[in-house]
Amino acid sequence: MMQIAIDKDKCIACGRCVDICPANIFSKEDGKITLQYEDSCIGCGHCVSVCPQDIISHSLFPIEKQHKFSYGDYPSPEAMMTLIKARRSNRAMSKTPIPEDMLKMIVEAAYLSPTATNSQNLEFTLITDAEKIRQVTSFTITTFYNLRKKLANAVLAPITKRLMPKVYAMVPMLDRLKAEFENGNDKVMRDATAMLIISAPKGDRFGTENANLSYQNASLMAESLGVAHFYTGFVLSATRLKKGKLEKELGVKGTMCAGMALGMPKFKYLKYTDRKEINYTKL
Ligand SMILES: Cc1cc2nc3c(=O)[nH]c(=O)nc-3n(C[C@H](O)[C@H](O)[C@H](O)COP(=O)(O)O)c2cc1C
Repeated sequence: MMQIAIDKDKCIACGRCVDICPANIFSKEDGKITLQYEDSCIGCGHCVSVCPQDIISHSLFPIEKQHKFSYGDYPSPEAMMTLIKARRSNRAMSKTPIPEDMLKMIVEAAYLSPTATNSQNLEFTLITDAEKIRQVTSFTITTFYNLRKKLANAVLAPITKRLMPKVYAMVPMLDRLKAEFENGNDKVMRDATAMLIISAPKGDRFGTENANLSYQNASLMAESLGVAHFYTGFVLSATRLKKGKLEKELGVKGTMCAGMALGMPKFKYLKYTDRKEINYTKL
C-alpha cells in the first residue's frame, strides 16, 4: 500500500494538492489540508510535484524520484509546430543500424506517455533481429493471403465483391505484396532495422488508447532524432485476424496494440506539404 503523509506543521494550506489530485484524496477543511482515502491514490505524483513547501511525502516518490526542471527548456511552440508539421512516415530506410542510445530514447519516450488511471501497464518489445522482422512480414502476408484465398473463392467471390467491395479490391495488392516478398522485397516492414511493439494486457479497456498515445510520443522522439519510422498498421490488422498468434511466435506479452517500424533514413525530406484544410467545429 502507498504511504502518503503531509507535514502539517509546515503546510501552508495553499490547496494545490486539493486542486490537482485526480483521485480527490486531499480536501481543505477549516483552513487545513486533510488526507483521506489513500487507497484511491493512482500514484501519479502530482501532489508531490506541485507542493511549494515540499512537505508531502509519498512512498512512490522519494526525493531521488523528484526532478526539478525549467519550462524554459521546452521546445518553443514554433519549434514544436515545425516538428509536428515536418514529421513524416518515412519508409525509405537504409541498412545502417540505429544507434543504441537513440533506440533507448525512443523506447523511453514511448514509456513516458499518459495511461488511463495511470496504469502504466503497457509492455514494450524492441526487435532488432532481422530474421524476427522478416517473421513479422511473413506472418502478415500469410494471414492476409489466407483471407485473400477465401475472398477469391469461386463461390464466395460474387458475394464478397458485392458486400465488401473495399476488402475485395485488396486482392491484387495482396498478390503483389506476396510476389514482392518472395522476390526478397519486403513492402510491409520495408527495410526497417528495428520494430517497436507496444502491447497491453489482454482485454485491457484502454489498451489501444494507451498504446497509441505511447506511439505518438515515440514517433515525435524518433523524428527529432532523425530516425525514420512508420506505423505498422498492416501488421496490426493481421494480428486482429489471427488473435494472439504473432505475439506467441515472438514471445510478446499481452496483445499488440500499436507497432512502429524504425530505420535510419536513406535520405532527408526537403519540404513538408500541407494537409487538408483544417475543418473543426467550434461550439
Ligand atoms: C493507424 C495507422 C496505420 C498505418 N499503417 C501503415 C502501414 O501499415 N504501413 C505504412 O507504410 N504506413 C502506415 N501508416 C502511415 C500512414 O500511411 C501515414 O500516417 C499517412 O499516410 C500520413 O502520412 P504522414 O504520417 O507522413 O504524415 C499508418 C498510420 C496510421 C495512423
